Amino acid sequence: MSTIKSDKQAAERKDIHLDLAKSEATKTDMHIHPLDHIDLPHCALPERNLIDVRTSKAFLGKTLSMPLLITGMTGGTDRADRINLALAEVAESEAIALGVGSQRAGLAHGRSQREMRALMPKMPLIGNLGGVQLAKSGGLALAQRAIDDLEADAIAIHLNPLQEASQPEGETDWRGILEALDALVHKSEVPVIVKEVGAGLSPKICKQLTAIGVRILDIAGKSGTNWARIEAARPEASDTRTQAYLAPFLDWGHNTADIMPLARSACPDSCLIGSGGIRDGLDIARILYLGGDMAGMAGPVLAALETDTLKIDQQALADMISIWRDQLRLAYFLSDGPQNW
Ligand SMILES: Cc1cc2nc3c(=O)[nH]c(=O)nc-3n(C[C@H](O)[C@H](O)[C@H](O)COP(=O)(O)O)c2cc1C
Repeated sequence: MSTIKSDKQAAERKDIHLDLAKSEATKTDMHIHPLDHIDLPHCALPERNLIDVRTSKAFLGKTLSMPLLITGMTGGTDRADRINLALAEVAESEAIALGVGSQRAGLAHGRSQREMRALMPKMPLIGNLGGVQLAKSGGLALAQRAIDDLEADAIAIHLNPLQEASQPEGETDWRGILEALDALVHKSEVPVIVKEVGAGLSPKICKQLTAIGVRILDIAGKSGTNWARIEAARPEASDTRTQAYLAPFLDWGHNTADIMPLARSACPDSCLIGSGGIRDGLDIARILYLGGDMAGMAGPVLAALETDTLKIDQQALADMISIWRDQLRLAYFLSDGPQNW
């Protein structure tokens, strides 16, 4: 397949993913959400005024109103660009960090997202590329273009072997990625973040990444957006054999709630982002309680912003983020705050 054709397909796939990610049918089958098992220690004597409780957080040299990153989702099509520009305005006004989705297809088609930086002068903006693309010939130069296009504060490299292996046209050669990451860490002038996309970075992988100098890890575990289910729901996977082949893997991966404390023990000095299934401000507090420095959200942000395929409601997302911030404040108040956990 020619590179141009596969880049075009990758861009089209991004739009299909936007719809499938919002569908209830692609959610992990869970009776009880794993984060609901995490009870923060209740404090019956807060000895402070709720309105004085601070939720701000320093991240990538900037001060956020809360420890929240909208993790990378999309890019490379008109619809994706509209979503990213809308997200940029909300992220700046709500003072939270934002990542874009893979920049590979967009850059291959000469599309720039530099307008996002103009909309986000004060908040962290994070670029994105797949680990597989990084390891290919020209991968380091592509990463540099991704950083330059956004004037990014960091570049996130996603590891998504489950998702790729679930796509009939997906990348299955995962050799050489650690080496490519090592090279990027040593070359890049901005921090490198390594993330999963919903199946989780195990403590062992976190340690391997830390050993080559990656300082920021987004564990992106299972319990939210489910890529095996999304890929299995695409028409390309609808034949009986592919459905039977994928069936046992639909809920594969590490639960966010389980791996967050293990990742912290494995990497005591890393900046750890806990994501995958974070639903609200209490879940953000739970992630911090389990050892995270920051929480990340993607699917719920998209659902709040894009009410149907054509309508973008920035106010609805801003209102939701404000509720999440107030929930985080209340969780700090009722549990004596992170400094006492
Ligand atoms: C529509 C959609 C597209 C995504 N595309 C990307 C991507 O291009 N690059 C990436 O690193 N992660 C991508 N993700 C994964 C998210 O960044 C995140 O790791 C994952 O969805 C788990 O978080 P959640 O449960 O809050 O959705 C995407 C997520 C969604 C919902």
